[in-house]
Amino acid sequence: MSKPAARERRDRTVGYIQFQPEFGEVKKNLDKAEEFIRSVPDADLLVLPELITTGYEFLDRDEVARYAEPFNGGPTARRMAKLAREFKTTLVIGFPEKDTRHNRLFNSCILVTPDGMAHVYRKIHLFDREKELFDRAHNQPPVIVTPAGRIGLMICFDWLFPETARLLALSGAEIIAHPSDLVLKFCQRAMFARSVENGVFTITCNRIGREDRVGRTLMFTGASQILSPRGDLLASAPEDQEHVGLATIDLNAADDKMITPHNHRINDRRTDLYRPLLSS
Ligand code: ACM
Repeated sequence: MSKPAARERRDRTVGYIQFQPEFGEVKKNLDKAEEFIRSVPDADLLVLPELITTGYEFLDRDEVARYAEPFNGGPTARRMAKLAREFKTTLVIGFPEKDTRHNRLFNSCILVTPDGMAHVYRKIHLFDREKELFDRAHNQPPVIVTPAGRIGLMICFDWLFPETARLLALSGAEIIAHPSDLVLKFCQRAMFARSVENGVFTITCNRIGREDRVGRTLMFTGASQILSPRGDLLASAPEDQEHVGLATIDLNAADDKMITPHNHRINDRRTDLYRPLLSS
């Protein structure tokens, strides 16, 4: 019997940009992000951390409101659109978002495609003091079709809720882009499970450094990483240094959901038994 023809590879170069922002210095932080983006002109997809234009530890909601910007047409979206067009790349970046029409503040990220179009995701699982600073969003985590692949978005603490990555996989994500400002130590290892159980690439882009603005010290844990659908570590960063990590991936690996010849990660779920998961 002849072997089935091998599928043509769909190679993409994807990466993270791990860095340390200066609190409140939006222009300086965007300049630094731009410098890093310019240093890897051939990447198809680059992920930057959560709230990277401002820093993380806001004093209160009023301070968030002073820095927040609309997801479309604000300084971050404009700068990213220009770079995405120039380098024909897809960019993901986290920032505080203001929805002025509804007087809401969100911890958001945008994905900007090479044509300059911005798609927003608003964090649904708020971490610790974020509950005082931001509104809880009600959007589904989106999957966006881009030249770099079908990209699902989640932000930092969403990692603790496996439903987030599962929703993205069920919506067809091949890559999960995961901008983060991690302070707990568990996430990077947990993302191994998110990658393997869903059969997707994951790119966790964390920040580094410390902030002590509200009478406590937060140390951000770095160690950004790119994982394959089989849990292979394709790139990883140190815990305390700025770092750009890249990997060339074949997107086909995320479309093959078989984990043994008899087991399909999605079709083998026992949804007939999962109903209790939906009751609170
Ligand atoms: C986090 O969600 N920034 C820990």
